Amino acid sequence: MEKTFVMLKPDAVQRNLIGEVIGRFEKKGLKLVALKMLTIDQEMANQHYNEHVGKPFFDDLVSFITSGPVVAMVWEGRQAIQVARKMMGSTDPQEAPTGTIRGDYGLFTGNNIVHGSDSPESAAREISLFFSQKEIISYKKCAEPWIYGEKTE
Ligand code: RTP
Ligand code: MG
Repeated sequence: MEKTFVMLKPDAVQRNLIGEVIGRFEKKGLKLVALKMLTIDQEMANQHYNEHVGKPFFDDLVSFITSGPVVAMVWEGRQAIQVARKMMGSTDPQEAPTGTIRGDYGLFTGNNIVHGSDSPESAAREISLFFSQKEIISYKKCAEPWIYGEKTE
């Protein structure tokens, strides 16, 4: 099944939103298959946000993302990339609808709580930047037929 990279940004950690945001993904039915806390250094920030190099907000983005620990995760599920992006809401929390993570917890584009891969290519690149193959766990959850409606044997 599809995997996506999700990261709780330094503001989520500082504002005690780790459990809240992880709980939303769990309750949705996505499966957590990798998780670690780390502080991103300059080089990793440049790699992660490589598509934004040269944009006016790039320096602020790098200094924010390196400003404290983050929680990096891989979530798995049917259409996980699109599902996670929908749950996050749009980049600007003022535009993100209530009920989305950014819509419920954010007020400023620079500090928008959560990152999620925007395409299968980004997901593959970001997952391999943060995790080794060994750190991604393959396992079954007994609720899967109840989530996806597949017939139990
Ligand atoms: P992310 O990559 O962090 O999940 O966010 P995103 O896809 O929704 O937005 P993206 O366009 O990839 O931008 C990456 C991050 O850069 C900051 N940003 N600031 N001031 C601005 O116009 C601006 N635009 C983007 C945001 O923090 C955004 O999450
Ligand atoms: Mg992005």
